[in-house]
Amino acid sequence: MSQDKPVNQAWGGRFGEATDAFVARFTASVRFDQRLYRHDIAGSIAHAEMLTRVGVLTQAERDAIVAGLKAIAAQIADGRFTWSEALEDVHMNIESALTAAIGTAGKKLHTGRSRNDQVATDIRLWLRDEIDAILAEITRLQQALVEVAEREADTIMPGFTHLQTAQPVTFGHHLMAWYEMLGRDHSRLIDCRKRLNRSPLGAAALAGTSYPIDRHHSAALLGFDGPTANSMDSVSDRDFAIEFCAAASLLMTHLSRASEELILWASAQFRFVDLPDRFCTGSSIMPQKKNPDVPELVRGKTGRVTGHLVALLTLMKGQPLAYNKDNQEDKEPLFDTADTLRDCLRAFADMVPALQVNRAAMRGAARAGYATATDLADYLVRQGLPFRDAHEAVGKAVAHGIASGRDLAELSLDELRVFAPTIASDVFAVLTLEGSVAARDHIGGTAPTQVRAAVAQARDDLARRAAPLQAQS
Ligand code: ARG
Repeated sequence: MSQDKPVNQAWGGRFGEATDAFVARFTASVRFDQRLYRHDIAGSIAHAEMLTRVGVLTQAERDAIVAGLKAIAAQIADGRFTWSEALEDVHMNIESALTAAIGTAGKKLHTGRSRNDQVATDIRLWLRDEIDAILAEITRLQQALVEVAEREADTIMPGFTHLQTAQPVTFGHHLMAWYEMLGRDHSRLIDCRKRLNRSPLGAAALAGTSYPIDRHHSAALLGFDGPTANSMDSVSDRDFAIEFCAAASLLMTHLSRASEELILWASAQFRFVDLPDRFCTGSSIMPQKKNPDVPELVRGKTGRVTGHLVALLTLMKGQPLAYNKDNQEDKEPLFDTADTLRDCLRAFADMVPALQVNRAAMRGAARAGYATATDLADYLVRQGLPFRDAHEAVGKAVAHGIASGRDLAELSLDELRVFAPTIASDVFAVLTLEGSVAARDHIGGTAPTQVRAAVAQARDDLARRAAPLQAQS
């Protein structure tokens, strides 16, 4: 065997020549997986503690390893650590620095484990922290929505179906719809967190290890709910990352829909809201422009997060058990998903409380769009007309209003009676916007009293959410 060329110290024993320089670069992941360093070190410390407990490492070796790893963590945090692409990934960079610092004890750290269970552990630990931070951001956004919804519980706007004026709703009700979507996103992420919170440590390369390890011990040290049940599954599946990306894609889809509404509402055609200048940019050529860049970008970034979900599903689909190098490709999409999601949630949580609401424009739009036509039909039904006949009569009244450029409430009693002779002067109470929203007074309805009830319930739920989350970490 030729010893002329340097070969990788960690696995070079059976190799006769050095890795091709291009291949070394092509296969290395340290460029992007170095961001796992904190979790990699936490995993290594737990592994060393466990090895000591079962008698594989001495106390002195354990102490040297733990002190060495902590020093490396500090170096990395301060930017004093030199990463080497020749050492492939975050795991071997740290292990090699440890051995350089403490000698032989460093070489013993990798006893009874493999980079396969190591990386599976690192990603889970990293993602668990990310999920916790994202859950907190969702809560912050939901809190903002609740505040604005309460303030705007009486604010009337047109509700749309097919983006055509349908029935009057309150702006508070609309915002509480966003709140509900985010609540489901929050619970999906809690679910995902529960399933990923199992420790793969001890699965080793794929089959487990011949050392007398205590997987419960290392799992407990890392805050896992326990060890994973099957070593082959532990090192190979990335379903937890896919699940996270799926929940993230849904969350982004919700933010994208809300963005689309903000963009419409901020336009000169709607003028329902004004986005604060600090969330917008201007045009270099059109002096009047104030562009809603932040919601536009959130809407745009939804595409890349959905793309990451598809990338991970595709990455996984052809892999036989157990670990395959394909899985190194899980990191960049996963990292970018978490980063993008956090940024977009932050943008929304900052923006929502600062929205300037143009109540007059909302009200004007609701008045102009025959939004109370259903209320007139319901009035006729209460007088004994079958709903379909009432629908027909009101349709004709609307056509008459359109022809003369007036809303239903602006037609005279005589004009209305042409379409339904039983109409009396009390009809004008149901044709008002306030009457219309107040009438939808049941759980989930748009009546201001119901919006206030939903706000109170939401405050309760958010307060209860805070407690168990702290207990989890
Ligand atoms: N960098 C690798 C990854 O991200 C670590 C595991 C490598 N394992 C191996 N047997 N080559 O998946």
